[in-house]
Amino acid sequence: MDVALVYNVKKEEHAAVESDAHPSSPDRTAIHTQTQPSSGVDAYAEWDTIETIHAVRDALSVSHSVTLIEADDDAYSRLKEMRPDIVFNIAEGRYGVSREAQIPAILDMLNIPYTGSDPLTLGICLDKSRAKEILSCYGIPTPRFIVVSTLEELRAMDFAAPAMVKPLFEGSSKGIFDASLAHTDDALRTQVRTVIEQYGQPALVEEFLPGREFTVAMLGNGDDVKVLPVVEIKFDSLPKGVNPIYSYEAKWIWDQSSSPLDIFECPAKIDEKLQNEIAEICRKTYRILRCKDWSRIDVRLDKNGRANIIEINPLPGILPNPEDNSCFPKAARMAGMNYQQMLNAVLDAAIVRYGLA
Ligand SMILES: Nc1ncnc2c1ncn2[C@@H]1O[C@H](COP(=O)(O)OP(=O)(O)OP(=O)(O)O)[C@@H](O)[C@H]1O
Ligand SMILES: [Mg+2]
Repeated sequence: MDVALVYNVKKEEHAAVESDAHPSSPDRTAIHTQTQPSSGVDAYAEWDTIETIHAVRDALSVSHSVTLIEADDDAYSRLKEMRPDIVFNIAEGRYGVSREAQIPAILDMLNIPYTGSDPLTLGICLDKSRAKEILSCYGIPTPRFIVVSTLEELRAMDFAAPAMVKPLFEGSSKGIFDASLAHTDDALRTQVRTVIEQYGQPALVEEFLPGREFTVAMLGNGDDVKVLPVVEIKFDSLPKGVNPIYSYEAKWIWDQSSSPLDIFECPAKIDEKLQNEIAEICRKTYRILRCKDWSRIDVRLDKNGRANIIEINPLPGILPNPEDNSCFPKAARMAGMNYQQMLNAVLDAAIVRYGLA
């Protein structure tokens, strides 16, 4: 099949991927000027590196003819012109709260099939409060929360610190630092102010769940959805004295491929009862939010040991090198799939779903 791989590349990486992605584009200005809402250290954390983009291309090229298309201002016309049989979508989008929905919306408009979830699901999952509201409606446990746009709005908070303070619509640990776990009311106010000012968006303040944390890779659709081996995030591998959260520092600073943190355990050492509870809550979440083909779901146990959903990643991170500690590829490897097989399984799920097989 003719597959278009649609992506956003980290800004500092544009130059290297440009020649590959835009062999004939006369005007390159757009890709040099694209910025994201925040300008801090984590501004581009959610976009992919050239290495990942090329690894995905190589994996899909085994059975298909693959063209790279950057999700920039020209994406619509390039997709319209090329009309691939299917798009493998890893684009996190450009601006705004529904940015992950942009490419799927374009593709729906052009009637081109694509991997992964539709615009509605992507938009809902990126706004963590909207996803939690829907899950709550179905009785799926998720931490208590309040969304605040001003410090005054904290008066309505009906649970106490310790609390997690996160930007409302980010991923890849953007805006989640060690300090995001506020142990006191003062720290909470400081964090809320920081999120609102630095990320230009409301803060999601959540009850802190102190239990074990897991992340679960889901693959497939309908009755064929596979729950891949559960990954546990082991906080005892973090530097001494830091908070037990999978923060930006834990993901991108303390964990380097040259000296990787031993932070994941896969399969998680859990008894059958907990395994079933986690698998069940993830299956329900996947179904309720209408995820397609693949997703990664973060789960943490509350003080009573009950599994709660923290958030859903319908566009999971897929760093290719095992030492880069990427959860979806790790779970897939444990299920017996290498990187190439994992990505082709996602593509095949979409091909079957669209009846293209
Ligand atoms: N309510 C909570 N209770 C306990 N820990 C939490 C809570 N919310 C977030 N965390 C911690 O912070 C981490 C990051 O939070 P979250 O998953 O919401 O952010 P993210 O940036 O969207 O993550 P990802 O990198 O998976 O996209 C979690 O993995 C967990 O360790
Ligand atoms: Mg997460």
